[in-house]
Order: sequence, then structure tokens, then C-alpha cells
Amino acid sequence: MSEVKNVLRLENITMQFGGVVAINNLSLQVNEGEIVALIGPNGAGKTTAFNCVTGVYEPTNGAVYFHGKPIAVNHPQGKMVRQYAGELANKYRETRPVVYSPDRITAMGIARTFQNIRLFKSQTAFENVLIATHLRRSSNLFTAAFRLNLREERRMREKAMSLLETVGLAEEADELATSLPYGKQRRLEIARALATDPTLLLLDEPAAGMNPQETDELGEFIVDIKNRFNLTVFMIEHHMNLVMDISDRIYVLDFGRQIAEGTPQEIQQNPVVIAAYLGVEEE
Ligand SMILES: Nc1ncnc2c1ncn2[C@@H]1O[C@H](COP(=O)(O)OP(=O)(O)OP(=O)(O)O)[C@@H](O)[C@H]1O
Ligand SMILES: [Mg+2]
Repeated sequence: MSEVKNVLRLENITMQFGGVVAINNLSLQVNEGEIVALIGPNGAGKTTAFNCVTGVYEPTNGAVYFHGKPIAVNHPQGKMVRQYAGELANKYRETRPVVYSPDRITAMGIARTFQNIRLFKSQTAFENVLIATHLRRSSNLFTAAFRLNLREERRMREKAMSLLETVGLAEEADELATSLPYGKQRRLEIARALATDPTLLLLDEPAAGMNPQETDELGEFIVDIKNRFNLTVFMIEHHMNLVMDISDRIYVLDFGRQIAEGTPQEIQQNPVVIAAYLGVEEE
């Protein structure tokens, strides 16, 4: 058996906003080459978990590791020491907090899409992707002096165009991002995420707003880009067909706590999951 490498690991993550414990002591891992889904009812804490991974929020307690390196480590401090309602605060007391900014985390190789699409509204599809390629730019004053930047600019434009082709939006390159139908905007966001050369791709409800046919196609598309770009994928999704079709493993959150973990088959048969989530009708 080949060695399993974990790309992302959450260890005892608690995220508390004032008195609200949005995530309570969540531990999980996503291994290299896997597609892992995070599911659970509205308000369960799924997006908050992504925000703790991408540096948008600093977890109140616990640690996040990316390729084994800590990118966030914290414990309750200040007012939160008395207010803290999560578990295992003492475990991290001695640790010096680690806080990486969203930019640094993107540069390390984590890219994401957003539940509420965030594209540059007044820019074309092409420009939205091109801007993201600039993260990997090597140009500086020195290269500018020797006119090397033009060549790099051309290379980035080619990369942006090729990514648009990958997501099936080459024809729409010059259209305003916001004039595209919803399903295409979601694909454009994925192209933009890929432009930063991630090893880990986080997708927050990629099928939201898509029709059933677009949703079916999205499943194949995610598997395809995962293979093509050697990615590991961590995905939040409410469409159970999509989740069950393409996930290697699934974590289930309910009220901020992990209530189950397993293969799609195990999750579908898990009575706790059925009671908390799968049993209720989809919106
Ligand atoms: N910045 C914040 N300040 C205060 N409360 C927050 C904040 N962000 C999230 N919450 C709360 O944390 C809880 C979890 O929210 P989150 O958005 O993570 O849920 P979710 O599982 O992504 O839900 P959905 O499926 O509806 O997207 C909710 O009660 C939410 O109100
Ligand atoms: Mg959410």
C-alpha cells in the first residue's frame, strides 16, 4: 500500500463568535488526491470551516495544517478565556499562535471558490482569470529594466486563456463576468482559483444555482480538473447526488460538530446522519 499523505488537517478547531460556537472541536483530514465532501444542514458551520482554513477567520482554538505545516494555531485569549464554550482549550495554551494571512495561504497553494460568487463585476471573464495569474508573477524592477516583463505578461495571458478553455468559457472570454449565466459564473470562479496554481481546491457549494444537467456535468468536470491539475479537492455541497457520485469520503457537520465520517455508502446508511440531515427534505 502506498503511503497516505494528508494535504489538509484540522485539529480540534473551534470557532466562536461572541457567544456563538459555530464550529466545536472539529478534527478532519483531506488526503492527497482525494475528493472529500463536507456536508450538513444550513448553519452547521461548513463555510466557517473553510474560512478558518483560508485565513479569513482565526480559529478560536485548535490548529490547521497544510502539507504538515501549521498555518493557523490558536487558543482562547483575552475576553475569550472566560467566554469560551468549546472544548480542549488547554491543549493549545502553550503553543505560540500561528496566523497566516489569506494571501500567504493562497500563495502556499490553497485556492477556493465562494458560496456567494465573488467575481470582479466590471471585468471580463478573461480579466478575472488574468488577475489571478499575477500571483505567480516573477517580474520586478530588475526584470522591468531588461524588458522581460512583456514576455511574462504574454505567458500569463496564454495561461488565462487556456484556463478559460479548460472550463469551457473560451467563447465568453470578452464578456463581462456578471453578464454570464449563473452556472458559467461558477465555472469562471473555478478557472480563477486554478490560475493561482493550487494543490488544494476548496469549493463552497459549486452546484448552487445550477440546473440538474449543469450539476451532472459539474461532477465530471470536478473529477476531470482534479486529475488534470493534480489537485486535492475539499467541497461543501448540498446536492447529494453530486456528493455521493464523486466523493471518496464525506464528513458530516451538525451544529458545529462532526457527527459522522465515512465513504458515501457508509454515510447514506448512517442512522445519525439520516436523522440529522438526509432524512429531511432538500430545499
Ligand atoms: N462572522 C460571523 N459572525 C457571527 N456569526 C457567524 C459569522 N460567520 C458565521 N457565523 C455563524 O456561524 C454559524 C455557521 O455558519 P456557516 O456560514 O459556517 O454555516 P454553513 O454550514 O456554511 O451554512 P449554509 O449551508 O447555510 O451555507 C451560523 O450560526 C452563522 O450565523
Ligand atoms: Mg455555507
